[in-house]
Amino acid sequence: MKILMVCLGNICRSPLAEGILNNKLRSSGYEAFVDSAGTGGWHAGESPDKRSIKVANDRGIDISQQRARKVKKEDLNSFDLIFAMDQNNLSDLLQIAEKDQQFKIHLYLEFAGFGKKDVPDPWYGNESDFIHVFDLLEDATEIAAQRIVNEYIK
Ligand code: 4NP
Repeated sequence: MKILMVCLGNICRSPLAEGILNNKLRSSGYEAFVDSAGTGGWHAGESPDKRSIKVANDRGIDISQQRARKVKKEDLNSFDLIFAMDQNNLSDLLQIAEKDQQFKIHLYLEFAGFGKKDVPDPWYGNESDFIHVFDLLEDATEIAAQRIVNEYIK
């Protein structure tokens, strides 16, 4: 099972989403490969944003070893599930996907039953915006991980 978390820069939201989902699946005893990427490549090769590293670290999740990369067309083939953090990421992914790959792509919060909602981009925000993103991703992941286990892993 290969799962890809996608945002714009792959330095704020999707590294957190990767860390939280990976932690949740592992601590529940499931093996899955969780990765993340950005629809934009400006930050390729960089560590996650310091503010994301800190908020994750404060909750016991180490994302400091992740490195940003841009989504590539092959990802649409090699990953089983691809989660967009917001609706711009979703439409960018749907544009590069072939028709028969579109079923793998979901808006993360919608998949978690929160409706057609975005994980807000905290790039221009402050620490409280990063805390909000973390909390939202953690709540969504409780449900998303359960769904992944029930519908895709079991
Ligand atoms: P992310 O946040 O998509 O959550 O990683 C952003 C990071 C960088 C930029 C935009 C959003 N940027 O414009 O460089």
